[in-house]
Amino acid sequence: MQNKKQIDNWWKSSVFYQVYPKSFMDSNGDGIGDIRGIIDKLDYVQYLGVNTIWVSPVYQSPMKDNGYDISDYYQIDPSFGTIDEMKELIEQARMRDINIIMDLVVNHCSDQHAWFQDALNNPESPYRDYFIVREGANGEVPNNWRGVFGGSVWEKLGQQNVYYYHTFAKEQPDLNWENPALRKEIYEMMNYWLDLGIKGFRIDAITFIKKDLSFQNIEPDGADGLAGLADVSENYPGIEVFLAEMKRETYGRYDSFAVAEISRPNDEMVQKFIGKDGVFDSIFDFSYLDLDVIDGKWFQNRPITAQMIKENMFASQYQAQRIGGYYSTVIQNHDQNRALSKYFEDADISFESASMLATLNLTLRGVPFLYQGEEIGMTNRNWKSFDEIDDISTYGQYQMALSEGVDEKTAFAMVAKRSRDNARTPMQWDDSATAGFTKAQPWILVNENYTEINVKEQMENQNSLLQYYRKLIEMRKSEQYMDLLSSGEIKQVEYCDEAIIAYERTLGEDKLLIILNYENREKEISAENVLAYKVLLSNYADTKVQEQLKLRPYEAIILGN
Ligand code: NOJ
Ligand code: CA
Repeated sequence: MQNKKQIDNWWKSSVFYQVYPKSFMDSNGDGIGDIRGIIDKLDYVQYLGVNTIWVSPVYQSPMKDNGYDISDYYQIDPSFGTIDEMKELIEQARMRDINIIMDLVVNHCSDQHAWFQDALNNPESPYRDYFIVREGANGEVPNNWRGVFGGSVWEKLGQQNVYYYHTFAKEQPDLNWENPALRKEIYEMMNYWLDLGIKGFRIDAITFIKKDLSFQNIEPDGADGLAGLADVSENYPGIEVFLAEMKRETYGRYDSFAVAEISRPNDEMVQKFIGKDGVFDSIFDFSYLDLDVIDGKWFQNRPITAQMIKENMFASQYQAQRIGGYYSTVIQNHDQNRALSKYFEDADISFESASMLATLNLTLRGVPFLYQGEEIGMTNRNWKSFDEIDDISTYGQYQMALSEGVDEKTAFAMVAKRSRDNARTPMQWDDSATAGFTKAQPWILVNENYTEINVKEQMENQNSLLQYYRKLIEMRKSEQYMDLLSSGEIKQVEYCDEAIIAYERTLGEDKLLIILNYENREKEISAENVLAYKVLLSNYADTKVQEQLKLRPYEAIILGN
């Protein structure tokens, strides 16, 4: 088999693993996951086979949004450990050939950051211009824009008729990217971490850094009289100037990887982001992650079909392919509910459905990311009341549901199903109390299913989801298939059944054909094209290549020539 060597960057052959530190492993018995806990689990990460870890924020933070509200970019939060432990993590990972990338949260900081505190307490402070500060209009907020977590983007700065802007929670004031002094501080900080040995960044909420500076009212789109930010601050023209400068001044100078959290980019923006000379190496493809939610409102929920996934996923795949760019593929992260609970009814969650989704995520063109616990099939938790919920955006979504006339019980059920806390329950290591995550009370409740779904059991069970993920990862990293899987051409294949997702991947003479039965029922399809292939991996034993192809519930097959 001939293999065209196309890979020119380490990250193109990498499988990424997102660690949410607070919920990964608690080493010191305070109920909160920490950096030492990640170090203790590096052998496991190596066993899984992934080669780069994205560590969600561990910077100093009052934790209003679990570390996405940073009060000092140079310090590690004491609940997570020390800077020496961070250095040790980088070094211990490197010894296992594992890279570390960190979260970069620079659309906003925390209201406890020294800059904001000075701006708040001193009207003459030069730091006022580090934030977006405007006068109120007729004793009211400056305009009717709605923040991502619900409610106005404006909050009073002290007692005067002056407001500051926050895309997310009010404790997360937006930084003013129009100010060169602020930008310089950010670049210095980024270079500090790159010099420490991290291999890049996952760049948070960067989509929002450029705003329509007229700050005019826009057409309301909800019962709250407010309007979403899509047209006035998401990928707003001019953003590319800031981004090009950031790259030039920071990660562009290092052998690094930068992946950005960008939602809803159009073709032109995608070109600027990940086309030739793009400002990032990759951006996440979220196009099929929020299909269950209508207009960003969690209470408006609908089932996701294979058809919906195909439409969105192939559009992104072709979009990146056309320009030779790379999407990062994901089925879940810390901002989502658990993938299995999102894509399937509870009764349909099984090894087969989970491994089918895994096959999808790891055979697309681009850079695959897993989220902790995905590899063992963790699911949503069955939340009973708000007492159990910590996630700040769940409250905002609940309020929005009530304001649109939804009754309390339904509103709770809908937002709980979508709550980000579903992804934030402790990692399920074993079947001991607290799933082996901590010796104390965990900061958030464990999912009761830890006695069945846990790492220990799946390490011992050769037919487990964990073992299936390991095979997929091994294939993704193998000399034979790594170039083909990351960069090879993708082409959708259609069979006479809408609930089958299928595609060919090609590089030079080498070809893979991936066929996924997205439904919990058997089907027989006419598939003459499979005869040229043999089975490389399947989530069922004894899968047979035959013209009348029989697919079992959620069967996933990777065929190779
Ligand atoms: C996106 C992050 O992933 C999310 O967790 C956070 O709440 C917001 N950005 C604000 O930083
Ligand atoms: Ca701890």
